[in-house]
Amino acid sequence: MSNAPAEATKAEEAPAEEIDLEPANHIIDKYLTLPGNLMPVLQGIQDEYGYVPRPTIDLVAERLNVYPSQIFGVLTFYAQFHLKPRGRFIIRVCVGTACHVQGAPRIVETFFDKLGIGHAETTPDLRYTFEKVACLGACGMAPLAMVNDSTYGQMTVQKVDQIIADYNQRPMKK
Ligand code: FES
Repeated sequence: MSNAPAEATKAEEAPAEEIDLEPANHIIDKYLTLPGNLMPVLQGIQDEYGYVPRPTIDLVAERLNVYPSQIFGVLTFYAQFHLKPRGRFIIRVCVGTACHVQGAPRIVETFFDKLGIGHAETTPDLRYTFEKVACLGACGMAPLAMVNDSTYGQMTVQKVDQIIADYNQRPMKK
């Protein structure tokens, strides 16, 4: 007969996310009595934390008296919202047609190699998030990359190295 402790069969759960809810409470206070307050509250939370952490969803649901499922519906419908932490620097590489034929796949692969992450992923130190994107509207500069609001045209593998070296030096705080 097995005497295995009950603990051993317990499913492994992700640790609860520890975040300071005070800023979220302030944002909710600001909009609490206004009609149509869900969107501005969620936008405020995303601006504050850089994403919408799970504990803030529960808080918003409780304080605005809406179901968490309604909030998830909004968060997943609008591309502007993120449910996971994002990097300080968002690297976007265009994979539109003009960029593709000018070598975008090689640029993407080089970023993957150097950063150790793939599309829509974030480095564990939260420095970088990488995203492949559709035409950025500057096809004459193909292949094109962006880091936050800065544009880098005629990308090469060497430029990938330079960009990463440059952003590795930059401070993590805005
Ligand atoms: S295809 Fe890349 S900018 Fe247009």
